[in-house]
Amino acid sequence: MRWNKKALATFVTCTLAATTTFSAAAATTLKLSHNQDRNHPVHKSMQYMADKVKEYTDGEVKIRIYPNGQLGTQRESMELLQNGALDISKSNASEMESFEPAYGAFNIPYIFRDREHYYRVMAGDVGQKILEASHDKGFVGLTYYDAGSRSFYANKEIKSPADLKGMKIRVQPSPTAVEMIKLMGGSPTPLAYGELYTALQQGVVDGAENNPTALTNSRHGEVSKVYSADEHTMIPDVLVISSKVWDKLDAEDQTALKKAANESMMYHKEVWSEMTEKAIDKAQKSMNVKFVSVEKQPFVDAVKPMHDAALNNPAIADYVRGIDALVQ
Ligand code: GCU
Repeated sequence: MRWNKKALATFVTCTLAATTTFSAAAATTLKLSHNQDRNHPVHKSMQYMADKVKEYTDGEVKIRIYPNGQLGTQRESMELLQNGALDISKSNASEMESFEPAYGAFNIPYIFRDREHYYRVMAGDVGQKILEASHDKGFVGLTYYDAGSRSFYANKEIKSPADLKGMKIRVQPSPTAVEMIKLMGGSPTPLAYGELYTALQQGVVDGAENNPTALTNSRHGEVSKVYSADEHTMIPDVLVISSKVWDKLDAEDQTALKKAANESMMYHKEVWSEMTEKAIDKAQKSMNVKFVSVEKQPFVDAVKPMHDAALNNPAIADYVRGIDALVQ
């Protein structure tokens, strides 16, 4: 079902707002929206967080999770959150850069050397500063969830930037993602995640890029049979709460929520590795997807100007330097 924005806001407000209460006596139930299915690692990690929050607040704060984009796309959820019609949303740093430019630092291709570098950043000062950067814009970051590395998938091998020529590649709605595909030589097509399966099936786009769970949990492996592992980005999922809601929580509940969110990030680290391996196995064995290894250097060279430009962009330069400083 497609919603227009007004109808969606009215639906979320009328149907659900009645359950959100803030008073010393009554429990607070926070509504959380995301766009993956219930079997996706990120859903399991957010459920873990919800259980911890309930435990740490003796049932005072509860979180109810609405998966599958049933409360709207990631963009729509962010808009509802800024209006105070939704409490918590899981988005991705790629889409978040339109709401808070600081997140753009994570979206630069090949900025992270490996998973350890990525975790040093997320759990360190740069990661925390970016979570805190957006209070005036209507939301506060709670934590990050590993979303692996993103690579191309299509019905042909993409082993060098030259293979992208003439291909329409779906990207997340993000200026950085659009720029990346242009520099690599393809035609970027921004689309919401929920529209991608049909777009691939009907040939509206020729390919996309994501981690391997997109092939299985979102069934893209049914319509794209080659995954070419150039691993151009490692873009975290981000859990954010409406500033209005955050400010209404008392200090103890804020601490409990933050603690639960941080713990769920580390829980997710383990779940993610296991489930990615399973996704690759399933995609290969049950969906007949071919995994191709790729020489990365030509891709790295094609997008190098983006890193140079970021160091001259006052909105993100300090964060980018902070990320670079954590390379070991
Ligand atoms: C990842 C990410 C989602 C995002 C999706 C996309 O799966 O976890 O939050 O929506 O990529 O490509 O849109």
